Amino acid sequence: MQYKTFPTVLIVGGAGYIGSHVNQLICQKGYQSVIFDNLSRGTKSNIVCGKFEQGDTGNLEDLQELFKKYSFDAIMHFAALTDVGESFKSPDTYYRENVVNTLNLLNAAVENNVKVFVFSSSAAIFGLPQTELIAEDHPCLPINPYGRTKLMVESILSDYDAAYGLKSCCLRYFNALGNDPDSKIHSLFAQQKNLIPLIFQSLSAKTPLTIYGTDYPTKDGTCIRDYIHVADLAEAHLQGLEKILSKNESCSYNLGNGHGYSVKEVIDAVKKITGLKIKVTIGPRRPGDPPILVANSDKARHELGWNPKYP
Ligand SMILES: NC(=O)c1ccc[n+]([C@@H]2O[C@H](COP(=O)([O-])OP(=O)(O)OC[C@H]3O[C@@H](n4cnc5c(N)ncnc54)[C@H](O)[C@@H]3O)[C@@H](O)[C@H]2O)c1
Repeated sequence: MQYKTFPTVLIVGGAGYIGSHVNQLICQKGYQSVIFDNLSRGTKSNIVCGKFEQGDTGNLEDLQELFKKYSFDAIMHFAALTDVGESFKSPDTYYRENVVNTLNLLNAAVENNVKVFVFSSSAAIFGLPQTELIAEDHPCLPINPYGRTKLMVESILSDYDAAYGLKSCCLRYFNALGNDPDSKIHSLFAQQKNLIPLIFQSLSAKTPLTIYGTDYPTKDGTCIRDYIHVADLAEAHLQGLEKILSKNESCSYNLGNGHGYSVKEVIDAVKKITGLKIKVTIGPRRPGDPPILVANSDKARHELGWNPKYP
């Protein structure tokens, strides 16, 4: 594909934690961006560049107006509900938000001849690990509704490529963490329900942190996860986008550091760095939590030249 100027990228959910970092990076590289977000969880102040349109992927009129107003060369789709526990309690909401609303967006893309789509998928599509490190060819057997929504969208994308020539890049993040190294984007990580923000929330509220399960088949009994910095994820999005733009083929990549840290190890690291005491209570296992999730990201390193800077 040839472009006279830098492509215009629609960033759906670009006011949120990961999307706002990706928006910042692609603007720095010269792309034009339009952020479409309903601000249910994101904040306008973190849209540091590009144009902003408030709207909801569940509202077909919002989408129609958006595609009438702009001509997009590519779409990056971050908007979704992201809480595994909540997805068990309200699967109706999760399938509507994550699958039906994505279908609305995909149909708008097809109708308006947009052929490039970068999708925020998740390690949750894999389910229980059958190998120490999870590569792209690992079986996809999600164990929670959230993971199933992500896998369904990946299947839809494969069918839309075959039928309509829509090329996609599915990026399966493991556990995102960190903030903008230049500090232009503020504190969205703190709202996340991931382990590190929860540790800091418990420190500031002076309430104990709950460890969910200490009887997993891991070295210290707590869950092991692979943590990947949001700035490294942003680089992978740029590289995934550029891969589709240059090669015109669909792809998928697992994005992690390839090292796993247990819940107890992360808590100990925060204790050591801050010098603060962290009170913990032990709770039962949460449904839908695999004991270990660690990525094999060799494919992204080889094919995209992705090289995480924050291992
Ligand atoms: N954070 C992680 O560790 C992680 C890991 C794996 C996958 N993911 C995926 O990455 C994506 C981004 O995650 P995040 O942590 O930045 O989430 P986030 O909640 O911070 O961002 C999502 C954004 O989408 C917007 N949004 C939600 N529903 C919308 C709708 N119907 N219409 C328009 N805008 C809508 C929200 O306002 C928010 O700004 C999600 O798809 C998530 O499933 C995240």
